[in-house]
Amino acid sequence: MMKSMHEKYINDALSIERKEISSIPKIVGWESPVNIALIKYWGKKEGQIPLNPSLSMTLSHAHTRTIIHYRRAAAKNGTIHFKFNAQSDHPFSKHVNTYLEKIKTYLPFLNDLDLYIESINNFPHSAGIASSASGMSALALSVVSIEQKLRETDLSDEIFFQKASYMARLGSGSASRSLYGGYVVWGDEDKGSADYAYPLPGKIHESFIHMHNSIFIVDSSSKVVSSSKGHERMQDHPYKEARIQQANKNFRSIKEALEDGNFERFAEITEEEAMSLHGLMLSSKKGYMLLNDTTLAIINKIREYRKKEKQPVTFTLDAGPNVHILYPSSAKGYVRQFIDKELIPLSPGSQIIHDFTGKGPVKLH
Ligand code: DP6
Repeated sequence: MMKSMHEKYINDALSIERKEISSIPKIVGWESPVNIALIKYWGKKEGQIPLNPSLSMTLSHAHTRTIIHYRRAAAKNGTIHFKFNAQSDHPFSKHVNTYLEKIKTYLPFLNDLDLYIESINNFPHSAGIASSASGMSALALSVVSIEQKLRETDLSDEIFFQKASYMARLGSGSASRSLYGGYVVWGDEDKGSADYAYPLPGKIHESFIHMHNSIFIVDSSSKVVSSSKGHERMQDHPYKEARIQQANKNFRSIKEALEDGNFERFAEITEEEAMSLHGLMLSSKKGYMLLNDTTLAIINKIREYRKKEKQPVTFTLDAGPNVHILYPSSAKGYVRQFIDKELIPLSPGSQIIHDFTGKGPVKLH
């Protein structure tokens, strides 16, 4: 029987004596992007395994940069110093500590290090963009890089990113997908493991290779119900089984649309996924709503515009009211005009972040 990734990483865990680790500080660092799901991960099983496959598009501009200075721990148990956007007592610190504790099962050498971690997002927290995907993936890449340096042997890129995706997943499910550029899959159990993500295999039609994503920030306040709580509400959701079937079907269909260059089909699936995600929130036992009237007005305008002007433009939503407007390069001129003339007046003064398909993480050190 094939060994699970869990067993494999535990068996391969680097065993190194504390005295063998240099006391001279060393540095690792990664820049890792935000990703937006087109087929949504919503609901999970034991061990941070998703209920259904998801597929995302990696962005180009919005990212987290994480740098870690590390050295042999001065005392028996290492210490962790974390700064987020130059602030040392940031609420994320607790999350980072819990996360590092969790992955020590696979990376036990972390016990013997003093870690000085600095993370910076290049998008304001107030932009309401989920930062756990870029943040946890940048951190996972950095700790796997430390392991590589301590081993003094290079893993192949494929094995390195697979391991970083596995570790990122343990921090936040969607973070597993930020390890790669373009379109990324996580949780297709038929095709192998749901333990880590991988780039969408097969051909992508040229019209989908460079996709724009203009993020209309409708509301930048924190969510009333976190994604983690939302996932929990899928456990006893009355539509749970139907959602799993729908996601699997949409996952298969969107792959065909991406290969064939069928924007109409792509838009149909993307919008169905976005609305289903929010429909599931609305219809869960303790139902809640993250959309507001501006979100709905923007959605209606996009649909009207597409129908009337026959321009390829669609949208998706994250777990919040902000609208991710998606369109290919060929429609950029028209869609930007439409955003300026028809969407901005719906919520004057709102921030819009223009982004597009990105190439994936960048090594800094
Ligand atoms: C709606 O990855 O933030 O953005 O695994 O509990 O950290 P945890 O959840 P998270 O959930 C993301 C949900 C989503 C859809 C998606 O990104 O696929």
